This record gives sequence, structure tokens and C-alpha cells, in this order.
Amino acid sequence: MERVALRFLVATALILSVATVISGELVNETSATAGLLWSTGKDESDLLSKAEPENSNNSSSSAVVNDHEDLDGGFSSLEGMLHWAIGHSDPTKLKEGAEDAQRLSASELQKRQLELKELIEKMKMPSDAELMRMAIDDLNNSSSSLGDRQRALQELLILVEPLDNANDLNKLGGLAIVIQELDHPDQDIRRLSAWVLGKACQNNAAVQKQILELGALTKLIKMVQSTSIEEAIKALYAVSALIQNNLAGQEIFYAEAGDTMLQEILSNSSNDIRLRRKAVSVVADLAEYQLENIAIAESPCFRNHLFLNSVVDLTASTDLDLQEKALVAIKNLLQLKTTEALVFKDFCNLDGSLERMRQQLLDLMAEEDRRDYAVDLETLRREVEQIFHEKLGKVENTASLVSGYNFHAILF
Ligand SMILES: *[C@@H]1O[C@H](CO)[C@@H](O)[C@H](O)[C@H]1NC(C)=O
Ligand SMILES: *[C@@H]1O[C@H](CO)[C@@H](O)[C@H](O)[C@H]1NC(C)=O
Ligand SMILES: *[C@@H]1O[C@H](CO)[C@@H](O)[C@H](O)[C@H]1NC(C)=O
Ligand SMILES: *[C@@H]1O[C@H](CO)[C@@H](O)[C@H](O)[C@H]1NC(C)=O
Ligand SMILES: *[C@@H]1O[C@H](CO)[C@@H](O)[C@H](O)[C@H]1NC(C)=O
Ligand SMILES: *[C@@H]1O[C@H](CO)[C@@H](O)[C@H](O)[C@H]1NC(C)=O
Repeated sequence: MERVALRFLVATALILSVATVISGELVNETSATAGLLWSTGKDESDLLSKAEPENSNNSSSSAVVNDHEDLDGGFSSLEGMLHWAIGHSDPTKLKEGAEDAQRLSASELQKRQLELKELIEKMKMPSDAELMRMAIDDLNNSSSSLGDRQRALQELLILVEPLDNANDLNKLGGLAIVIQELDHPDQDIRRLSAWVLGKACQNNAAVQKQILELGALTKLIKMVQSTSIEEAIKALYAVSALIQNNLAGQEIFYAEAGDTMLQEILSNSSNDIRLRRKAVSVVADLAEYQLENIAIAESPCFRNHLFLNSVVDLTASTDLDLQEKALVAIKNLLQLKTTEALVFKDFCNLDGSLERMRQQLLDLMAEEDRRDYAVDLETLRREVEQIFHEKLGKVENTASLVSGYNFHAILF
């Protein structure tokens, strides 16, 4: 059975439970719905075994929750699944089910749940490709309501997670359709579309290439400047996924002044903290890519004093996560050939920033619950300090060599 088919199974069990909830009976039976789950990366057998409560052999309405929620957002997969399940069910049948449930005894209901479960297992479940096709058709239909579109995008968000599905999306014409939705007048549709694109191309060079060829990066960079913060965050997420370890993507990114966009986000402390964290992570990634690919030309932004300063300034943030991400970025930036130690020293006052951070972390270490984190951060801070002083040391050695040479030249 396909993984999505299993989702369908869980969804149907959920509907049954919902029907029971509606009937107002068997509350104990249905309390399991509160813990119903949605597994994104589990094997069928794994999920099925978990779906059977250990001490009850015959309840199909309960299942274990294991939500691998992405770090990047707050998509309620349970809700999405419910919408999907209900959207693809017959409301009359659902109502009948609820009415029937009311008349059934506990054991009768359990029997029916078992029967239903068997029935579902025998039914032909739609494949992931078929589910994607349905979602794409909904998006590609001018009569689709806003709700249909939202649901279709939320389905795609889940469906594109497995690599094979992401690779199929373009074959089904889905990428172009989702990219079109980036222009939708509704900002939530735009946000979801950016999110789907980011998810589809994350760590997937083939899909990155397809999306870049369809010209979506330029549009996404503009979307980062949206006044809707949620839209901006998802757009930046998609930009980041598109350019990560991708030279062609980075070339477009720089050509479209993506670095200036990052600098503006970093240097304006009124911006949403999530946006700033993401922006500084993108800087760290870009610098890391250059470190790993020394043959490619280094981006001019790494020679830009203001750009570097906007990163160093983040160490003064009150947000520890932002500080940590800034340290990682600085560590990478310091190791680039193009960045100059003296710029970090004189223009950015990196010494002062590192010292201020050291004192702040010392205070933090005195707090029981934050000590471990503070210790980790201090280790990273010291590492940055060491790399910085090594880089400065090289400059000073060169300087003394040069002055020695000059002295020599004067004498002779
Ligand atoms: C529901 O559960 C509670 C305790 O969890 C129990 O006291 C009660 O009898 C149960 N009701 C039914 C109808 O099983
Ligand atoms: C569940 O029921 C089946 C038969 O209905 C039985 O063979 C099996 O041993 C039962 N499992 C448990 C854990 O009670
Ligand atoms: C649960 O299933 C077992 C056999 O698997 C059966 O003997 C028992 O009556 C069932 N319990 C209920 C409440 O239906
Ligand atoms: C487009 O959507 C409308 C309304 O949901 C539906 O009636 C129609 O069949 C759809 N068209 C296609 C080509 O799927
Ligand atoms: C979108 O719909 C048009 C007809 O309205 C069709 O020609 C086209 O192939 C569809 N695109 C996709 C990707 O399904
Ligand atoms: C800083 O960001 C805030 C909120 O995003 C915005 O209103 C303001 O115009 C920005 N300031 C500058 C100088 O760009």
C-alpha cells in the first residue's frame, strides 16, 4: 500500500471518529482522535502497528501521532488532512454515519470500524501521482474557489516531500501551475505556493533546475519584500532552497540583487526575527558554498563593508538564536579569501562584539536552565575569535615583512 493510501486510511478512520463525536456518544472511544496522527516518514507497517493500541485489539479509530513538523513553518497537517478527507467524502454519507453511530452500541460500533477498516484496505487507493494530479487540476481550474486552491496547495505541500514525488511534479505540469499561483491576488495562496516550491526543491538539484528554468527565482526574491510577513518568510525559504549548493541559482540571485535584499533585512532590526534568522542563515550558506568551491569567483557582497557589518551587528541582538546564526555566518565569512581581517577589526569592530558576547554568555552560564546552551555558544564564539585572530595574524606578518623589505630597500 502506498504511504498516501495509508494517510487516506487514517483520514477515513478520522472521519468515522468525527461522525462518532458528532453523535455525542462513546466519548471514551473517540478521545483517541485528539491524539490522531499523521506520519510523514513512517513505513506502513510501522504506522499500522502503532495504530493498534497495545491493550485493545479492536479499535480502528485510534492512532499514534508522530508529526515531523518542519522547522520552517506551522502547517497543521492534521487539519490539512481533515480538510482533504472531508472534502473528498460524501456529506450525506457522513451524516448518515453519524446518525447510525448514535444507534449503535459500543461493540457494534467497534465491529463496524473493523469492517470499514478492512473495506478501506481492499479498496483501490489513489496513488501519490493521482493525488498530485487532482491537486494540480484544482489549481488549473479557474472555477476553483479560494478554499479549493488552498486545499490543493496544502496537499501538494505534503505530497512533494518524498523525493520521487517532487521529481514527478514537473512531469505532471505542476511546477508551472504552482509558479503561476505566485501571482495570485490572495496573499495566502502566494505564501502556500512559495512554500510548495521551496519544499519541492529542497536538497533536490533536479527540481531546483526546473524551477530556475521556469524563472521563479526573480519573482520569489521580490516576494521577500512583501508587507505580509508570513508571505515574506516563505518566499525567503523558497529562495534559500533554490540557491543552496546551486551555482546557477546563486548567479541569478546576485544578478537580482538578492544580497542587497539580505542586507536590508539584516540591518533593520524592526524586521521580523524569523526573517532575520533565515536571512543570516542564507548568508552563512552562501559563504560556505564559496568555501567549498574555491574555483568560482567570490561574490562582491563579501567585499562590501556594510554587508559584513550588518552580519557582525547581529551579535548584539537579544535573540540568542540570531546570535548563534550570526556567529556561524561570521565564521564562514572570515575564512573567505576576499574578506579582509582589517575590515572586521576596524570597520565592524568584531573584537568589541566578541568581547561583549563573551560577557553576556558568562552571565547566561550562571542561569541553570540556559547553561548548556551558553557553553555551546561560547565554544562557537571562541572558535570565531581564533579564526579571526589567525586571519589578523597573517595580515600583521605580511605587514612586517613588507616594512622589513622597505627598510632593506632604503639601506641598499
Ligand atoms: C469513560 O472513561 C471514564 C474514565 O476514563 C470512565 O469512568 C467511564 O466509565 C467511561 N465511560 C464509558 C461510557 O465507557
Ligand atoms: C487480536 O485478535 C485476533 C483475532 O481476532 C487474535 O488472533 C490476536 O491474538 C489478538 N491480539 C491481541 C493482542 O489480543
Ligand atoms: C475485541 O476483539 C476480541 C477478539 O479479537 C473479541 O473477543 C472482543 O469481544 C472484542 N471486543 C469488543 C468490545 O468488541
Ligand atoms: C472546474 O471546477 C468546477 C467547479 O469545481 C467543476 O465543476 C469543473 O468540472 C472543473 N473543471 C475541470 C476541467 O475539472
Ligand atoms: C490546464 O488546463 C488547460 C485547459 O484549461 C490544459 O490545456 C492544460 O494542459 C492544463 N495544465 C495542466 C498542467 O494540467
Ligand atoms: C525597517 O523595517 C520596518 C518593518 O519591516 C519597515 O517598516 C521600515 O520601513 C524599515 N526601515 C527601513 C529604513 O528600511
